[in-house]
Amino acid sequence: MTIGFIGAGKVGQSLGLLFKEQGYSISGYYSRHGKALVLDQRLSQVDIYTELDKLVGISDVIGITVPDDQIDRVVSELETQGIDFSEKFFFHSSGAHTVESLKKLSNRVFSIHPLMAFPNVVSDLRSFDNIYFGIENLDVFIESGLNLKITNYFGIQSELKSKYHAGAAIISNYLVAVIDFGLSQFMELGLDADEAQKAIWPLVSNTLDNINILGTKKALTGPIVRGDVGTIEAHLNALSKDLVPLYRALGQYTLQMTNHQKLVHKKLEKLLEEDDYDKDHNINF
Ligand SMILES: NC(=O)c1ccc[n+]([C@@H]2O[C@H](COP(=O)([O-])OP(=O)(O)OC[C@H]3O[C@@H](n4cnc5c(N)ncnc54)[C@H](OP(=O)(O)O)[C@@H]3O)[C@@H](O)[C@H]2O)c1
Repeated sequence: MTIGFIGAGKVGQSLGLLFKEQGYSISGYYSRHGKALVLDQRLSQVDIYTELDKLVGISDVIGITVPDDQIDRVVSELETQGIDFSEKFFFHSSGAHTVESLKKLSNRVFSIHPLMAFPNVVSDLRSFDNIYFGIENLDVFIESGLNLKITNYFGIQSELKSKYHAGAAIISNYLVAVIDFGLSQFMELGLDADEAQKAIWPLVSNTLDNINILGTKKALTGPIVRGDVGTIEAHLNALSKDLVPLYRALGQYTLQMTNHQKLVHKKLEKLLEEDDYDKDHNINF
C-alpha cells in the first residue's frame, strides 16, 4: 500500500514520517512550490509532485493535509481532473471538518485527527507513542489498512465532530489561556516573565499529574472545593474589573464539580454569579 500527501506542512510531514517508520510506503507529496519545497531530511528520498493527478495516480491512500479551509478547494481541483478516483482511499486530518466533501471523490473516505499539537514537524517520533487518533468513518479507516500499526484510536460520529473538536480545543488552547490568565497576576507582583513561568511550572505539572492519576474531580484543590467564601471574595477584590467575568465563569464551572452542602453552595454561587453581590458588598472595582 502506498500513501501520498497533498499538503506538506506540519501534519502532512509528521504523519508521513510516522507511516514511513511503521513500514508503509510513502509515494510522494504534492506541493504548489514544486522542487522549491524543502521536506524534512528524513523524507528527502520521497518524491515531490507538482501535478495532483500524478500523485493521486500512484497512491492507494491520499492524505489531504492542507489547512481546513483549503480542503474543499483541493477536492474541487481533483474533481476538475475528470478522473475516476473511486478505488482510492482519501483522508484528511481535520478535527473540525467532516469528510462530507471528500465523498465527491470516492466513497472510501475517512479522517484521522491526531490528538496532539504540532507547532512543527515532529522531531522525535516517540512523541507519537501515546497519542490517540480520533477517526471519522472508522470502518473505512480499517478497510484502508492504515490501522495495522496505529493502535490508539477511537471512532467519532460525523454529527458529533464539532463537539469532539470543541473538547480538544478547550483542553489544548484554553489550558494555555488559563495559564496565561494566572501568570498575568504574577506579573503584577513584579516578577519578570521567565521567573514567573519558572515559579508556576511545578504547580502546572503537579496539577496535570494529579489529573492523570486521580481524574479531574479528585484533583481539584483550592478555595472553591474547600468552600472558602472569604478567599473567593478577596480574589474578586484583587482582580482588575475586566478579568472578573472570566474568573467568575471559570469559578461557576469549578463549583458544579464540587459536592458542597446546600448553604455553602448557595453562598459560593451567589458570589460567582450575581453582579448585585458587588453592589451589596461594596467591592471596589
Ligand atoms: N497543527 C496542528 O497542531 C494540527 C493538529 C491536528 C490536526 N491538524 C490538521 O492538519 C491539517 C494541516 O494542518 P497543518 O498544521 O499541518 O498546516 P500547515 O503546517 O499550514 O500545512 C499546510 C500545508 O498545506 C499546503 N496547502 C495549503 N493550501 C493548499 C492548496 N490549496 N493546495 C495544496 N496544498 C496546499 C501548504 O503549502 P503552501 O506552503 O503551498 O501553503 C502546507 O504545506 C489541518 O486540517 C489541521 O486542522 C493540525
